[in-house]
Amino acid sequence: MTTPDPSLSGPLVLGPLVLGIETSCDETAAAVVGRDASGRAQILSNVVLSQIGEHAAFGGVVPEIAARAHAEAIGGIVSAALVEAGVALEAIGAVAATVGPGLVGGLIVGATAAKAIALPLGIPFLGINHLEGHALTPRLTDALAYPYLLLLVSGGHTQILLVEGLGRYERWGTTIDDALGEAFDKTAKLLELPHPGGPSVERMATSGDAARFSLPRPLRGEKRLDFSFSGLKTAVRQAAEAHAPLADGDVADLCAAFQRAASESVADRLALALARFRDRFPDLADPALAVAGGVAANGEIRRALTDLSARTGVRLVSPPHALCTDNAAMIAYVGLERLEAGERDAVTLPVRPRWPLDETAAPLIGFGKRGAKA
Ligand code: KG4
Ligand code: ZN
Repeated sequence: MTTPDPSLSGPLVLGPLVLGIETSCDETAAAVVGRDASGRAQILSNVVLSQIGEHAAFGGVVPEIAARAHAEAIGGIVSAALVEAGVALEAIGAVAATVGPGLVGGLIVGATAAKAIALPLGIPFLGINHLEGHALTPRLTDALAYPYLLLLVSGGHTQILLVEGLGRYERWGTTIDDALGEAFDKTAKLLELPHPGGPSVERMATSGDAARFSLPRPLRGEKRLDFSFSGLKTAVRQAAEAHAPLADGDVADLCAAFQRAASESVADRLALALARFRDRFPDLADPALAVAGGVAANGEIRRALTDLSARTGVRLVSPPHALCTDNAAMIAYVGLERLEAGERDAVTLPVRPRWPLDETAAPLIGFGKRGAKA
């Protein structure tokens, strides 16, 4: 293992530096992560190139276009991450890349690049689960101790996960149909609001009356911890059709009603999950709920979670937005924890486009919806 040359590194780092690579969907990302002298994780660089413009005309991520764009960008993005970190390639102690779940072409590009860097340098290669990146982000940003509960709400996933330790995850709930971000995006599309839908719906909702339309609260009160959002989106469509043509005020009211129903749904499931978490770990000194995923940026959902946290005495840990959405710092960080645990992978490790974090949990929806975004 190579120790970083202090003359090349920026902040004082202790132990190995890990280069992380993320190419599972439509972001080409690379980052360098290490620990400072106190043992706290440090992000030395975090470079993300979004391909959103390349897919915009197609209304979703096109796997072939994504793979080609990753292949073209990856070399430059890795170089940019090293430059931003102020370290030479020789200062890197291990390379970690997302090997699943995600789009196979992009995964192959990232994994191959990581292996091609690690092999000649004689340093470890680690193949990382993208969802594990999201799951451990609160440890990277807030040094959160195990165990904790995680709400992952993105365009591709809506999950409640128990994060018990490195490699020890239990999926307590997931969506039985649409992911929450997907529901926001579809609702925006049917109301003819610009993509990405979440911020558009939130913006319109600020001037809307959430009480004007009565929308369903799917699975509310059920003992299972799963989510369902497709009925909610259908109810918005029916209300929109019944009031067509829609004035701006109607759209604002529908957005407000949708957002209210979505945040109440999330709070309802989370209340149950937190009660279960407290029962399972009654002696935990600092019980915490962490959030990740693009939808966690939503102000009303954040407020609902903040209220819940105050009511239940469970601390809410909400990493900065740029680290809640797809990035390579989270992949480098999982690589660092795994490296410190003595793990490494063979350079023959294959990519794994379908790879649940909790292998014991039954799949409820087919992975691969909406461009397999995680
Ligand atoms: O985590 P993310 O950036 O990408 C992945 O899906 O992995 O999440 C993107 C999703 C999109 O569906 C977007 O509409 C949603 O997050 N989103 C929001 C907000 N900002 C982004 N949803 C609700 N309110 C927001 N403010
Ligand atoms: Zn993701």
